[in-house]
Parts: sequence; C-alpha cells; structure tokens
Amino acid sequence: MSYISRLLPRSSSIVKAGWIHLRVNSVRLNQPRRCISSRATSTNGSTSRLGEHMENEAQHLNNGTVPVDNWSHPGPAAFDFRSDVMTTPTMRMLSAISSTTLLDDVYQLDPTTNNLEAFIAELTGKETSLFVLSGTMGNQVAIRAHLQGPPHSVVTDHRSHIWKYEAGGVASLCGALIRLVEPSNGDFVTLEDVQKQTVLSTNVHYCPTKLISLENTLDGIILPLAECRRISTWARENDIIMHLDGARLWEAVASGAGSLKDYCACFDSISLCFSKGLGAPIGSIIVGTQPFCDRARWIRKSIGGGLRQAGVVTAAARVAVEDTFLGGKLQASHLRAQRIAQMWRDRGGKLANPVQTNMVWLDLEAAGITDEGFVEEGEKVGLMLGGGRLVIHYQIGDEAVMKLEGVMDAVLKGKKTNR
Ligand SMILES: Cc1ncc(COP(=O)(O)O)c(C=O)c1O
Repeated sequence: MSYISRLLPRSSSIVKAGWIHLRVNSVRLNQPRRCISSRATSTNGSTSRLGEHMENEAQHLNNGTVPVDNWSHPGPAAFDFRSDVMTTPTMRMLSAISSTTLLDDVYQLDPTTNNLEAFIAELTGKETSLFVLSGTMGNQVAIRAHLQGPPHSVVTDHRSHIWKYEAGGVASLCGALIRLVEPSNGDFVTLEDVQKQTVLSTNVHYCPTKLISLENTLDGIILPLAECRRISTWARENDIIMHLDGARLWEAVASGAGSLKDYCACFDSISLCFSKGLGAPIGSIIVGTQPFCDRARWIRKSIGGGLRQAGVVTAAARVAVEDTFLGGKLQASHLRAQRIAQMWRDRGGKLANPVQTNMVWLDLEAAGITDEGFVEEGEKVGLMLGGGRLVIHYQIGDEAVMKLEGVMDAVLKGKKTNR
C-alpha cells in the first residue's frame, strides 16, 4: 500500500486532487455539503509527491517528532477523558478548510463565514450571529456588549465558567460585580435561587443587577427548559438581560431536554462552542439580535478578535455542526457515559453529580483515592485522565472504555491494571 493511501481515506478528493492545485468548482456555500465537490488539477499527477510533500512539511513543522497523519483518526483524543476540548478535527474538516473562501471577515466579505453566521442564526431562531475565537471570547464579548457603565452586577451560578475560569474578565472588561447563586437542589439553579441574588433596588447603596448569565449544560447537568423559561420570564418582567453560556448547549439538546430554538428563545444572547464536543479545531459563536451583534462585532474588534481570512476556521466549524451535532454523534457518547457510570457503581463507587449528558463525575474522595493516584493509574494503560471528572466525547470508543474499566478495577478492587 502506497504511503498516500495509508495517509488519506480512499474517497478523499484530496487524494484525487494531488497537492499542487485545488480548483473549487461552483461551491454553494449556503448548502450543507456531504462530500467534497472540488476538482483539482495537478501539475505532476503523482500522489506519492503529495505524501512526500506532507512528510517534508511535517519534518519542518515539528522536527518529524509527530506522525504526519493527524486528520484521518482522532489520535490521542480517543484515549483522552480530560475534556471534550481534546477532540481532534476530521478529514472532512480538512477538506472544508481546503475548499473555503478566503476573503476578509473584518469587512464581512467572506462567504463561508457569513454563511456560517446565517446558518447558526437559523438553527437557533435568532436574528443573527457573530463568530468568535473561543468560548471565553464569546461570553466576554457578549456580556460586554450588553452592559453599559457601572454600577452593575451580573448574577451567575457559583460553579459557572464566567466566574471561575475566565480570568476575571467580567470585572476587568465590564467593571461588573458578580453575585453568585447556589442551586438549592444541588444540581441546577431555580428562579427562587436566582431571585435571592438579584438586586432590583434603585437604592444607591446597592449594585443593581443588569444581567443574569446561566450555563447549560453545567458540569454536564442540564438546566431544564421549564426552569429556564421561569427565570427568563421573570428577568424580562424586570428588564434584566439574559445571557447563556451554551458552550455545551448542543449536549442538552442532543439529550432531548429541549430544542435549540426553545432554549435560545429564553435568552438575549447565547454563546455556543464549536471546538468542544463538536470537534472543530477553533471557534465559538454568539447569537442574538442585529443591534446586539453589531455592538458585539465592535467589542470583538477592540480586543483583537477581528479576523481576516476567517473562512479557514469557519469552514471547519460548519462541518462540526453538520457532522457531529446534526449528524447525531453526541447521543452515543451520552450512552457511553451512562455505561461508564454503571461500571463505577457496579464496583461500589459513588458519583458526585448526576450523569445526564457527556460527563461522569466519579467521587474519588469517597472511594479514598487521590486525583493524582487515579491519573497515574490511567497513565499506566495509556489513558489521559484529569481526576474524577470524565468527559466522554464522540471520539472516545470502546477500547478506551475497556481500559477505563481496568483502571476502575485497579483503584476500587486493588487489582492490577493489565488491559
Ligand atoms: C462551559 C464553558 N464555557 C466556556 C468555556 C470557554 O471556552 P474556551 O476554552 O474556548 O475559551 C468553557 C471551556 O471549557 C466551558 O467549559
């Protein structure tokens, strides 16, 4: 078998295309494309030349320390339970990248990017959307775009990403006070929990709440649609803006908790990630009204997030939504998560959170195991673990689950890991 046929799937048009020159014929960017319709001309017609070229390039890029074929299989991601950010982009994403338009997005000229924004607006039932580089950028740009000048407070869950993991951006970029909500049921915040932390008073001693930021899923837990609607109705009656960190809203929707449109109707803005469970290499998007997105575009520019040839990343993001979310790949990882939770329980382990989507929280402390001990046991069989939180993404397969079972045996029953 030639080097190149090992490198790329047989059906890939890139194999047929040869390396030298890809000519994209009448690409209809507003249509989901199931296969590559590009034709190419090659000045030498040799596929082995492509292999040689890629090998040389890989040698140049990483001193030959990593295999060249990083697109047609998940690579280490198939054994990485640390996070769904570890998913790797696919061959179809590479094909989309090579077929993308390459116009300037600061001037809003790039069809691939404009079409992605229109596609996501349609999918979520919102007026428009704006591509951003990361989930953090999505949340921060959205919150900054909504808020005017202090004094103002933002109400959010005490476990939320915007509070714990966004480098204090709400304080530094918006000058806002964050007020933390504890879910009284231990899982998701209710209207009553939110009301306790929301400041409606106009008394000058207080810091009025201008925005409520929810997260769904949060630690893999679903915020039920009915509760979302209660909070949203009350917030709107009180002129409070609703933002959703929906980095993993895809997972809630895939689990059947509600539709994208129903959830998004509860919010003035939503940030959705392409590069977590969906597997795109880069990017997130914020959705909302036209005036909101116009202002968000301005804020995005002010922090250096205006992109030039954005099609290179938006093409892959489009494929991620089509193949992974619309293609129905998330449900399988939810089933695997249930299986993993059962494996742990069968061995006497306890869970720290309910398993509703793609995360399993093993209560290591209750089992008398340290995070480090668990991580080390995983390393012995080639698994990457980050402690008790296991994130099951669509590139995790049965082989990784079997290895994990061995790790569970080792830590819970004192058996030696040998799988
Ligand atoms: C719920 C949630 N929101 C936002 C983010 C931020 O995304 P990014 O890492 O792309 O900035 C993350 C990252 O893991 C997340 O889990």
